[in-house]
Amino acid sequence: MVRPVARRLHAENIEEVVTTALKRSGVSLEEIDAVAATVKPGMPLSLVVGTEYGKQLALNARKPFIPIHHMEAHALTVRMVEQLIIEINTRIFWVEFPFLVLLVSGGHSLLVLAHSVDRWSIIGQTVDDAPGEALDKGARRLKLRNIPECSSMSGGQAIEHLAKEGNPRAYDFPTPMWKYRDCTFSFAGLKHSLLKLITKLEEEYEVEGGNIIPPIRDVCASYQYAITKHLVRQTQRAMVYNDIRGLLPKENLKLVLSGGVACNNYIRSALQKLCETTGYQLLCPPPRLCTDNGIMIAWNGMERWKAQSGVIYDEEAIKNIDI
Ligand code: KG4
Ligand code: ZN
Repeated sequence: MVRPVARRLHAENIEEVVTTALKRSGVSLEEIDAVAATVKPGMPLSLVVGTEYGKQLALNARKPFIPIHHMEAHALTVRMVEQLIIEINTRIFWVEFPFLVLLVSGGHSLLVLAHSVDRWSIIGQTVDDAPGEALDKGARRLKLRNIPECSSMSGGQAIEHLAKEGNPRAYDFPTPMWKYRDCTFSFAGLKHSLLKLITKLEEEYEVEGGNIIPPIRDVCASYQYAITKHLVRQTQRAMVYNDIRGLLPKENLKLVLSGGVACNNYIRSALQKLCETTGYQLLCPPPRLCTDNGIMIAWNGMERWKAQSGVIYDEEAIKNIDI
């Protein structure tokens, strides 16, 4: 989305979103304990709208303010989901710390050890693009918006959809970071290989303008396969690293998968297979809570409130929070 447009839409809608949320939940502003809002990371132009609104709301209502890190919220969502299951099925289950987290979105690719609400160790991250970015830019170059059934899908969704009927071994992609033995990610090389492949295929099939290359499904399937393979490989390394260092309890190994790209069923099932062979339990929020949503920010606020960690009471300190 064009940044100034995103900012305008945020500014135009925030008041109504907050009012509707309060009305629907049947809770008044006086009854809430604190105000939580995302302060980082992200596009400053849009972030500033929510941060400033949240700060002002907290100051006007004389409530504490809880600044939220967007990726922490993605990582904690699963604890809320499992708690909802307890309430519905009276099943006693709670995603206890510590656990391993793979966060894959449009801006991030992170392998993190979650020790507690406020203690996280990053064990791998991308040196260039995020997987969602590689999927979105690939989808744009493949002109997937011109395919009617994909016109309203995100890039990642469209690639997953078309890949279902494609051959994942049709085209080879280079293995990223093959020289290194750590958990670092890199998706820029895969993206560039895709762009080169598209140009070659367009020449081969004499495709012009907004037309789509005939082997589109095979290209999508092979690209998705290459991205998935890289995610699985680095995650497996993180598991080996945990194993050697004894960082997670052997009787309760958990991998949490979240972020927009975690909606992808092909990636979920590849990680499920990895977990089955390594003795991990894969935990993943439902798709609507994997992509960006306000509920995960509220939940992160609850977690921090319960732990009384990062809660800002002082009015001057709230005013001085910056994105
Ligand atoms: O977490 P998110 O909603 O926003 C960021 O924090 O970036 O993630 C958005 C990303 C987009 O790149 C989008 O293409 C990707 O998630 N995505 C998917 C799928 N649905 C959304 N990627 C792969 N498969 C999907 N089904
Ligand atoms: Zn996100």
